[in-house]
This record gives sequence, structure tokens and C-alpha cells, in this order.
Amino acid sequence: MDALAVSPLAPHSARTLPFTAPALLAPMEGVTEPCFRDLVLSRNGPEHLGGTFTEFVRVHATAVPRSIVRRHLGPGRFPQPVGVQLMGNDLERLAQTARNAVAAGAPLVDLNFGCPAKGAIAGCAGSALLRDPSAVERVVRAVSGAVSVPVTAKIRAGYDDASRVEELARAAEQGGAAMLTIHCRTRAEAYCPEVDWTRIARAVSAVSIPVCGNGGVERPGDFERLRRETGAALAMVGRGALADPWIFSGRAVSRGEAARFLVEYADLMRERNQWPGGGVAARVKQLLRYWTAGGLVESEEHRLEWLREKDGEALLARLRTLAALP
Ligand SMILES: Cc1cc2nc3c(=O)[nH]c(=O)nc-3n(C[C@H](O)[C@H](O)[C@H](O)COP(=O)(O)O)c2cc1C
Repeated sequence: MDALAVSPLAPHSARTLPFTAPALLAPMEGVTEPCFRDLVLSRNGPEHLGGTFTEFVRVHATAVPRSIVRRHLGPGRFPQPVGVQLMGNDLERLAQTARNAVAAGAPLVDLNFGCPAKGAIAGCAGSALLRDPSAVERVVRAVSGAVSVPVTAKIRAGYDDASRVEELARAAEQGGAAMLTIHCRTRAEAYCPEVDWTRIARAVSAVSIPVCGNGGVERPGDFERLRRETGAALAMVGRGALADPWIFSGRAVSRGEAARFLVEYADLMRERNQWPGGGVAARVKQLLRYWTAGGLVESEEHRLEWLREKDGEALLARLRTLAALP
């Protein structure tokens, strides 16, 4: 809970960060839709998991209406805040979408400056903006001036290299960001296995707003280690939470409990009609690609066996059998 007491939050008192603990679940497109998020929130109390975000909401030709933002927020209600993440570069449409997000109930708005996808770059959004720190500043300023909730920025350490990480961090701060999340890989490094946390420490030294470090958190102890080694006030996990959704509480779960998560996930997606057609099993498989919790995936060979199952109903039936175990 100590992240809430970090003194740099004081000047932003009207925009106090609402996180309940210093460990956050990263926004992940195609993964952190409301069903997955709600299950992770239900398994990790507010003392362990401090908050999370929607997948990025792309702001393109027009501002995104409140009804669509509400769909991204979903029906779940937990003590932890769910921020709405926006990605785009048009200042007025981003500002209007942020207002719509607040009207839809968003307790904070996060801005994406990290997406490395070709579409984002071609549209000069996401990580494309890292080539010009003044563009980062302009976007943050436009959005933070439009709403009264905290506006946070999520950047990568740079576009081609990390030489301008301090400049990028300061640009977000100057624009009025209440927190800076830094994914320590550059756009060029995409999702490489190696991480260099000294880049997070450099961002921490450059600004006085709270920094959330991200990249390479894989085990429960990594949240604390990242904060200790970099001075970041908060730490965020992405794929580590797909491998082990209990990573925040650090609880080791049984095979049955692990299978029950996946079965509940499939059932919830069906109930909410989230991925009609054959999409539900594909989403479960997407988690199995990373999954380590509960010994459900015994080896890489066993993982391939799960992933090669073409019949979605057969895959779910196997999981239901395992879910009956203690
Ligand atoms: C499948 C997937 C989707 C992602 N989608 C988003 C997104 O919508 N917004 C965002 O800011 N980052 C996105 N990211 C990046 C993550 O938030 C995070 O910064 C990155 O995975 C590094 O953290 P990790 O090493 O803990 O996975 C995505 C990552 C993955 C693997």
C-alpha cells in the first residue's frame, strides 16, 4: 500500500492516483478485456494488485463514444481502479474521448506511447510518438487539460534506442502526467527476452512524478526487486500475469484451481458473448501459450499438445475434467 503514500503525489492532490497497491496489471490488447481482468481482480485482493487498465482504445477518425468506452470498462466492480487506455495522436479527439471515458466512469485515463504495431506507427500513434518528445508532451497536455481525473502516460524506453529516455520522461511530466509507466524495452526491441532496468532508474531520476517500471516481471518477488533496484514507486506486469494470474498475491495454486480459472474464463466469455463463434477456445489457448500456474502445463512438449488441439470443445472438456480435481 505504500505507493499511495509516496510524496510526489501530493502536488497532484486533485488527481491522486487511485491505486490500492504498487503492483499493477498491464494493458494488453486481446487479453485484458473485462472477462480476463475480472478474474485476475477476483483472485488478487486490493492489498496485492493495485489496479489495471483496459486494452488500448484506438482514437482514430472520430472520438470514441461513451458506450464503447463503457464496454471496455465492463460490468465488473472491484476496489481496484481500471484505467481507460487511449491511443491516438489527434489532440481534440483524444481529449473528447477522455471526457467520454470519465463520463463512462473511468477513474483515470492512460495514454499509450508504446504500441510497436505497424498500423499504429503508420498512423503516427503509439510508439511512433516516441520519435518526438514534444508530441508526447502535447498529447498528455491536451488530455490532462480535458479531464479532472489523473492522466498517466505509458512509454517505451525509446524508439530505436534508449538515449532519450530522460527527455521522454520529462515530456510526459511537463504535459501534466500524474504517473509515468515505462516499459524498459525500446520499440526496436519489441518483446525481446532481455530487459535493462537501468533505463527505468534513469527515468526515475529525471522526473518527480511517480514512475511505474515495466518489463520482465516474471515472479512475485520481481515487483519488489524492480522497485528496489530502480527507485520506481510502482511495478507493472504483462505476460507474467498470463503465465500466472496469481502472481500478485504470490499464492501457489493446485492443478484443479488453475484449470478452474481457465474454465471460468471460457464460461464468462460465453455468458457475456465476448468472443462469439470459435473465439472462446482460441482465447483460452492464448493464455496456455504462456501458462505456468498449477503445473497445468508440465513441459514445453505438453504445452504444444494443448496448443495443437484443434477441437475447441475437446480442449475445454479436458480442462473441465482437470477442474474437478482439488
Ligand atoms: C498480447 C499483448 C498485448 C499488449 N497490448 C498492449 C496495450 O494494449 N497497451 C499497452 O500499453 N501495452 C500493451 N502491451 C505491452 C504490455 O503492456 C507490457 O508493456 C509489455 O508486455 C512488457 O511487460 P512484460 O515484460 O511484463 O510482458 C501488450 C503486450 C502483449 C504481450
